[in-house]
Amino acid sequence: MSISHEEQRDKWNEEHRHPFALLQMDDHNPSSSVGLYVDFLKGKGISQAIGVEMGCGKGRNSIALSKENFVSHIEAFDFSYVAISTAKERAKEEDVRKVHFAVMDATRHWMFPSDHFHFGLDCAASTDIESPEGRQYAIEEMFRVLKPGAYALCWAMSERDEYHILMRAQFPAEEQNAFYQPRTGKFEKVFTEEELDSLYAKFNVVEKRRISKVTRFFDTPYATDMHWRIYQKPIK
Ligand SMILES: C[S@@+](CC[C@H](N)C(=O)[O-])C[C@H]1O[C@@H](n2cnc3c(N)ncnc32)[C@H](O)[C@@H]1O
Repeated sequence: MSISHEEQRDKWNEEHRHPFALLQMDDHNPSSSVGLYVDFLKGKGISQAIGVEMGCGKGRNSIALSKENFVSHIEAFDFSYVAISTAKERAKEEDVRKVHFAVMDATRHWMFPSDHFHFGLDCAASTDIESPEGRQYAIEEMFRVLKPGAYALCWAMSERDEYHILMRAQFPAEEQNAFYQPRTGKFEKVFTEEELDSLYAKFNVVEKRRISKVTRFFDTPYATDMHWRIYQKPIK
């Protein structure tokens, strides 16, 4: 079995339209990775910062970040038009003016200038790109659009996650540490530390943590051991 990019996007549109597998993606509260990132960025004394979020879903992370004083603007994008139309509605309801949401594919040219952003987010987005080439392209674009010295948060599912160990054993994909979600058919990749560092090879790793928590899949709790990593684009 393999899945095309269009099929993966259709499955995500369906998931965003009728939240089913990952109810937290429908949540208004940001991912737990974002609070830690805010603390990190504040610790670096960043101000009037502009950021970029790839695979922003319904916008919970960018909306929360935009409420921080040190943030002046965020470009947030997702390839799901369903997710982005909800993100725009939510931003309007909350009178959020600092985030621009757009439908854009992370595996195609990012419509932003090079060396532009002070910070970036890959919050469980790489995980959902179904080809190694597409994933690599997306992170190369993240590298290109960040300023030298800028940071990228990588929050990713890991090879130690309880649910993913089961899925990989029962429904493996062709790629290592990846599987097809049996109820939705969606491709998902989990990462070892080495795989993430290889994906982000052009960056320097400045923080690496494992965060153990309970995550719900199909509304059932499982132990996860997520990667929380901060990468920095080298200063030329
Ligand atoms: C696990 S969800 C995370 C959403 C969001 N970051 C959050 O934390 O709520 C992964 C997101 O990546 C998006 N996505 C997957 N592949 C993408 C691609 N090639 N380009 C842009 N977005 C993509 C999906 O539509 C989905 O919204």
